[in-house]
Amino acid sequence: MRAAAILGKNIPKLCATDSLDAFGSCRMCLVEIEGRKGTPASCTTLAEDGMVVSTQSGKLEKLRKNILELYISDHPLDCVTCPTNGDCELQDVAGELGVEESRYGLHGQNHQHAAKDESNPYFTFDPSMCIVCYRCVRACDDIQGTFALTVDGRGFESKVVAGQMESFMESECVSCGACVSSCPTAALEEKSVIKLGLPEKSIVTTCAYCGVGCAFNVETRGDQVVRMTPYKDGKANEGHACVKGRFAFGYSDHKDRITTPMIRDSIDEAWREVSWEEAIDFTARRFRQIQAEYGRDSIGGITSSRCSNEETFLVQKLIRAGFGNNNVDTCARVCHSPTGYGLKTTLGESAGTQAFDSVDKADVVMLIGANPTEAHPVFGSRLKHRLRQGAQLIVVDPRKTELVNSPHIRAAYHLQLRPGSNVAFLNAMAHVIVSEGLADEKYVNERCEIPSWENWCEFVKLEENSPEFLQSVTGIPAEELRAAARLYANAGNAAIYYGLGVTEHSQGSTSVMGIANLAMATGNLGREGVGVNPLRGQNNVQGSCDMGSFPHELPGHRHISDPEVRSLFEKEWQVKLHPEPGLRIPNMFDAALSGVFKGLYCQGEDIAQSDPNTHHVEAALKSLECLVVQDIFLNETARFAHVFLPGSTFLEKNGTFTNAERRISRVRKVLPSKSGKEDWEITMDLANALGYPMHYSHPSEIMDEIARLTPSFTGVNYEKLDRLGSIQWPCNEEAPDGTPTMHVGEFVRGKGYFAITGFVPTSERSTRKFPLLLTTGRILSQYNVGAQTRRTENTAWANEDLLEIHPVDAEDRGINSGDWVGIKSRAGDTVLHAVVTERVQPGVVYTTFHFPETGANIVTTDNSDWATNCPEYKVTAVQVMRVTQPSEWQKQQEVFNQQQSTFLNKARRRGA
Ligand code: SF4
Ligand code: SF4
Ligand code: SF4
Ligand code: FES
Repeated sequence: MRAAAILGKNIPKLCATDSLDAFGSCRMCLVEIEGRKGTPASCTTLAEDGMVVSTQSGKLEKLRKNILELYISDHPLDCVTCPTNGDCELQDVAGELGVEESRYGLHGQNHQHAAKDESNPYFTFDPSMCIVCYRCVRACDDIQGTFALTVDGRGFESKVVAGQMESFMESECVSCGACVSSCPTAALEEKSVIKLGLPEKSIVTTCAYCGVGCAFNVETRGDQVVRMTPYKDGKANEGHACVKGRFAFGYSDHKDRITTPMIRDSIDEAWREVSWEEAIDFTARRFRQIQAEYGRDSIGGITSSRCSNEETFLVQKLIRAGFGNNNVDTCARVCHSPTGYGLKTTLGESAGTQAFDSVDKADVVMLIGANPTEAHPVFGSRLKHRLRQGAQLIVVDPRKTELVNSPHIRAAYHLQLRPGSNVAFLNAMAHVIVSEGLADEKYVNERCEIPSWENWCEFVKLEENSPEFLQSVTGIPAEELRAAARLYANAGNAAIYYGLGVTEHSQGSTSVMGIANLAMATGNLGREGVGVNPLRGQNNVQGSCDMGSFPHELPGHRHISDPEVRSLFEKEWQVKLHPEPGLRIPNMFDAALSGVFKGLYCQGEDIAQSDPNTHHVEAALKSLECLVVQDIFLNETARFAHVFLPGSTFLEKNGTFTNAERRISRVRKVLPSKSGKEDWEITMDLANALGYPMHYSHPSEIMDEIARLTPSFTGVNYEKLDRLGSIQWPCNEEAPDGTPTMHVGEFVRGKGYFAITGFVPTSERSTRKFPLLLTTGRILSQYNVGAQTRRTENTAWANEDLLEIHPVDAEDRGINSGDWVGIKSRAGDTVLHAVVTERVQPGVVYTTFHFPETGANIVTTDNSDWATNCPEYKVTAVQVMRVTQPSEWQKQQEVFNQQQSTFLNKARRRGA
């Protein structure tokens, strides 16, 4: 079939599709081959040299028509009223063969009255339309890797079923939509298409959720998005998606969207809706007054990894050039700042080393503190695919995640370490590799700094770093750790993927360096199938860091104290830059509480919900004289704001995101901005009002400026992005089309540097008062602070944060699943529902942080990474007990929220 397609010969088909392996069930693709009997299916027949094949003949046509008539004898023939009329492969094939009716009649035994399954909020399954082609089953197995569907029964009784004859929602289906995309009929169909009709227009853009950065066709009808279908040529996802990107775009139209600027003098007052001019003028005046009274450094700003490269670049430019200080930080402070520090120190570049498809060549994958099937689902599916092909997996996680054991996947080792012991674990791995002679000395001699290597070997060989010595710290049996180290070190290609379970610790940066050390020592860097790969949480974490969002770094990760770099920017920006790094987010809070920091511009980031120790954060926000929030919703932070600038969703603007593999992809405007301005325009207006001129007419001009100023972006521009689809930086003269694999031949810093990674236990330990360790994570259906996903049908899967507790700890406390439990740390306490499960080990409890009503961060402390201040979200000593009512903090929040929503409603009523 493919050979014929290459020659431009179309063979009718129903069960074959280019995204799945051939299956051969529909028999529509029959051909005749000279010298062979019968009419084999062309989709499952291999082409051979010299083979003479007829794809069309009278005999073939007759056979195909007959098959099709059999199909349509059990298919509703109401194409005209069918929601996919004009977008149905069965209809296309019938048209091609000129079949309009069936000689077998339509009134025999059939499936026309089979009940529809409407359980999934996003798609419907109508068995009466099903031709049992198995495409959905194969898509779920081969692409998604969930194995939720089967065909039950034989012959006429054959039918597609989910789970154990359950509805889609009751089954293990994760609503990725792969089955819907592969269905050739309307049997599996998006509810939005049924409701709104088939789309008329399509634009390619990039998902605004996680750091995988999937490409999508946004399909619209009039001014409504009908559906988002994963784009086959998208290099990060190759036509696959997850429930968030594929279906959860409804927040863009949610009634909670705020589209008019608002101001107020104090947070105890109602909001006033005002014009853009008034809001911008009010903000600029307030900021200038504060600087006049408290000094130049009394204001700052926060960029967001949910915003585009161009937007974050502009915010840091506004702060450095317009505010005249370096008080800019980003939400990556609280997630992957240790990645930047750790990888820059050891390898010379603050970024992951591979493209996602590199994992297709890995023999062993070590997954540390990451849960990709929940948090990076499309990469999770790709990894599962590789594991089903035979690659081995080591999971290092305090919790039993899906990849430890799921259909057709079983990790070779699950090293269930104690929270807070990552560095001890990595040192023990290094001890085994060095002391058992498993290091790749040839590679190290060629590629790394030898004195650092020798020091490191001496260090890791110490008895105190042996798995036996550290067993009581890590909780990992020494023999198991030794076996895992041998598996990693002896693999042809071994790759490490890691997540926030590595970085969000008091030794987050040390762990990242420990990971890089392991990869260098075993020669696993600089080619495909290997590497050190941080899985970034939000869509543009890599990009926001690249764009100079940290107080010490100008775009391109160059230190602000470097006079040469500064002068480059000073020339372009026509302003003198301050050479000292500014305040990090936690320093801004401390400075606010001590009365020297008074104004904050916060774009697209909800620090009141996402940052640790909520009491501290809220007190700091309350002390500000001018808090400006630019967002699409009145988020938790905006309750403390004086100015609200309504932002745009990713559907309403142009720009670029950079995903976890350094891939820069276009975000394209599909709908007009509801507020009338794209976010970069708002920042530009503010700069102009502050007296620092900015003049851009399109984000492409901002990218041109980024390229002029940033060596790793020299070759990036919108024309090239449109032509190539996406580009992995560095993209410059040496690599005009980008760089899929980093550190080939040589590390960016020249020779790789082995950093000494001494283990320093966190001060956050379990005690008699707080005997359990709380660790946090994410779930598939919700995203970060949940501001977007909570406003979609994704709440059908999860509408609250839950506390996972081991049966032993639950029994000690008389806790059953579903009980209200109070969780208390030295920072604060909150109340949520419990789930008793063996996913967590005894002594460890786990929750997510997606719902403000729970406020998981009321409990987390302000302990942080020694190098970067990334909070220690993953280890908090807590006590858990059964309770019957919300915590005091929750009750106060309820009152405060009601007051704030009254203030908002007043503004809306006045506006109306
Ligand atoms: S639901 Fe669609 S893809 Fe699945 S077997 Fe039926 S027709 Fe084929
Ligand atoms: S939506 Fe995804 S997980 Fe669910 S049945 Fe379809 S392919 Fe499987
Ligand atoms: S995997 Fe991430 S980028 Fe891809 S669709 Fe899901 S949320 Fe979006
Ligand atoms: S397309 Fe070949 S058997 Fe269905």
